[in-house]
Amino acid sequence: MTPVLTRTMTRSLGIPEPAWHLRSADAESGIRSTGASGDEAGPVDDGAGLPAPPELALHPLRASLGFTFREGDLAFRSARRHGEVFRSEFLGGPGKVVMISNPAHIASIMGKPDLAPSATRFSPLRPIVGPDSVLTSVGPRHKQQRGLLLPQFHGRAVTAYQERIDEATARRIDEWRPGETVALADIGQAITLDVIMSAVFGIEDAVRATPSESAVRSSMIRLLQLSTHSLATVVQLINSRSREPRGVLKMVLNPLDRAIYGVIAERRREGADGPDGAGRTDILTVLMAARGDDGEPLGDGEIRDELLTLVLAGHETTSNTVAWTFERLTRTPDVYARAMEAARSGDDAYVEALINESMRSRPVVPVVARELLAPWRFGEYAVERGRITLVSILLLHHRDDLYPRPFAFEPERFLGVKPSPQRLMPFGGGTRRCLGAGLALAELRVVISEILRRTDLAITDAPPERPQHRNVTMIPADGGLVRATVRR
Ligand code: HEM
Repeated sequence: MTPVLTRTMTRSLGIPEPAWHLRSADAESGIRSTGASGDEAGPVDDGAGLPAPPELALHPLRASLGFTFREGDLAFRSARRHGEVFRSEFLGGPGKVVMISNPAHIASIMGKPDLAPSATRFSPLRPIVGPDSVLTSVGPRHKQQRGLLLPQFHGRAVTAYQERIDEATARRIDEWRPGETVALADIGQAITLDVIMSAVFGIEDAVRATPSESAVRSSMIRLLQLSTHSLATVVQLINSRSREPRGVLKMVLNPLDRAIYGVIAERRREGADGPDGAGRTDILTVLMAARGDDGEPLGDGEIRDELLTLVLAGHETTSNTVAWTFERLTRTPDVYARAMEAARSGDDAYVEALINESMRSRPVVPVVARELLAPWRFGEYAVERGRITLVSILLLHHRDDLYPRPFAFEPERFLGVKPSPQRLMPFGGGTRRCLGAGLALAELRVVISEILRRTDLAITDAPPERPQHRNVTMIPADGGLVRATVRR
């Protein structure tokens, strides 16, 4: 969105300046527990006589536009004005929602997936990845898909991807010319795409890839370009109420689908031993060998949905976390100096604290959603069955009672502390917690440490980059622009 449109939107929603990302390090967010009974939460009978939470005085159209374009500002303003639980209504999409940010309230729904299942059927990713992928399905189907994929993202499996992460990171940093201004989201994207394509399709070497494998990669890049284009939100709105992709999205998805089905057909002809008989270990091979509860193999459409989910879910999230980390570091020179020293002296604890602070202060997925299948108590309020609960990770991460000086960038707050999953949840939680968190963290450790080790970046006094909301992510509007003065 252009700055003029952004300003108009800000004014029309009555959002006070400065925008949340421009607040000073000493500012308070105003978000904290509201009373003695504030932490009680869980399913209740008929609302237990409790009042409904305050409702935003916004027409559903304005609320939808506000949350689409200025989600962060609207969330901060509403929480400051109405407290930690408030209701709103959107035109289309999830409809009636309640937004929460109290750790006990969040734990109450994360711990009861049967009564509060994921609401990703309303996700903007649904027209792209279909209704049956691990991201969009619920109940037994979700359990089955998750069980199938989880081992591919755990301990030993992630270690197997390590070499690929190291190699892709080194290559992209080697290409970086000192003096050039680059968007770190682009560098992060190139690295994470290499890694995920290798994990998912087993495509290690672009030169030896078959024509279908090369077509998958190039059409995937086109889809990712569309998802980061400035008109992506319009495409998202056009597709928001449809089960099938429409318009430009359909045009971009058709060649990608053909390419994916081409690779699946090649693999079926080849068998699981691979072209050199050594045996394939990629996720596509695992999915092709899998049997459902009915003993039947997955259909090609189901395999396609799963593959696309993994590439999309694992790509923009990780690359923009890298971009945000350096967007923050190049604006906080003391922290940057300490982080460089830590990476160069092998102080992994500080790098880990830095990653936590980056994901706390700029969570790339700011909200996750659950559908309430029972009336629910949130502190002194109750909401009716059927309401969609938006768990605001962004607000949780900026509560004054959990994080003093919430707008300051201070990795030290995580030094020597194992953050509790109730307080720090960049990967969501419960049975839907991010499937790729282990892989993402392995990538972040390498990419962030190597950039800190091998480059000196120019400190900037430019204003903080504006958080831009795109699909389900919150990304730096300029992609995390940095300039290296030295590269080793
Ligand atoms: C920094 C990087 C990442 C962040 C911040 C992130 C964040 C998230 C969040 C917040 C959710 C929703 C959780 C919930 O509803 O409670 C999620 C789900 C998911 N993520 Fe990630 N993610 C990242 C990287 C990845 C990677 C690398 C992959 C895979 C290759 C991946 C695959 C998935 C999948 C498949 C789901 C759906 C899980 C389910 O519903 O069972 N993510 N992620």
